[in-house]
Amino acid sequence: MRLILLGAPGAGKGTQANYIKEKFGIPQISTGDMLRAAVKAGTPLGLEAKAIMDAGGLVRDDIIIGLVKERIAEADCANGFLFDGFPRTIPQAEAMKEAGVNIDYVVEIDVPDANIIDRMSGRRVHLPSGRTYHVKYNPPKVEGRDDETGEELVQRDDDKEETVKKRLAVYHEQTEVLVGFYSQMAASGDAAAPKYVKVDGTQAVEAVRDEL
Ligand code: AP5
Ligand code: ZN
Repeated sequence: MRLILLGAPGAGKGTQANYIKEKFGIPQISTGDMLRAAVKAGTPLGLEAKAIMDAGGLVRDDIIIGLVKERIAEADCANGFLFDGFPRTIPQAEAMKEAGVNIDYVVEIDVPDANIIDRMSGRRVHLPSGRTYHVKYNPPKVEGRDDETGEELVQRDDDKEETVKKRLAVYHEQTEVLVGFYSQMAASGDAAAPKYVKVDGTQAVEAVRDEL
């Protein structure tokens, strides 16, 4: 099973990815998590990516495409994977098509901009695993602590209101076109084309999960 989770920043891709990867036994490939790991490790990629991420922009397509190609060649991807936050531009989507990476499902999690700021300001993350919580909508069992490891939860550097607004603008400019890109592919009737599914992401976390 190969899946793409598509949706605005804060739509709940990471939250739902957690359920999907368990259910299908496939790895979650979050380019955002990979970049945050590189930033934390202080690699050359991390140093380059940090300023771009903090400003709410997108990291260069060639870098991201290279990272993902390397990742999906690893052994744990043999039975499929779940893309979270990738592809994010037409060139990234085209690169996967050209590489013959056929996708089974593209799932769009639809949430209007008005709900996003609230979600981002209450978000807390466990950086080593990428597990995500919300102080109000999806609280951890112990305040400020990851459910599985008990380690500290933090706020992401790019969750400041100004940066979130920039990320939303970039989503509408560069990523939203993928809705048309994949739904047209799905409608083409081509056997290799993905199926396209849209879910209402404004429902509670569990309701979105059940619908998915
Ligand atoms: P990335 O990490 O991918 O961020 P994003 O796409 O902006 O999405 P988020 O992780 O912010 O949101 P999410 O949809 O996963 O929501 P979550 O489940 O956490 O990318 C970060 C940056 O890296 C980019 O800005 C860019 O610079 C760079 N980058 C990454 N990939 C790239 C690429 N392919 N190309 C170029 N650059 C790239 O949920 C959000 C909050 O809401 C949480 O607190 C959660 O608990 C809560 N919540 C979730 N679902 C619900 C619900 N149903 N009801 C109420 N609250 C909910
Ligand atoms: Zn995420």
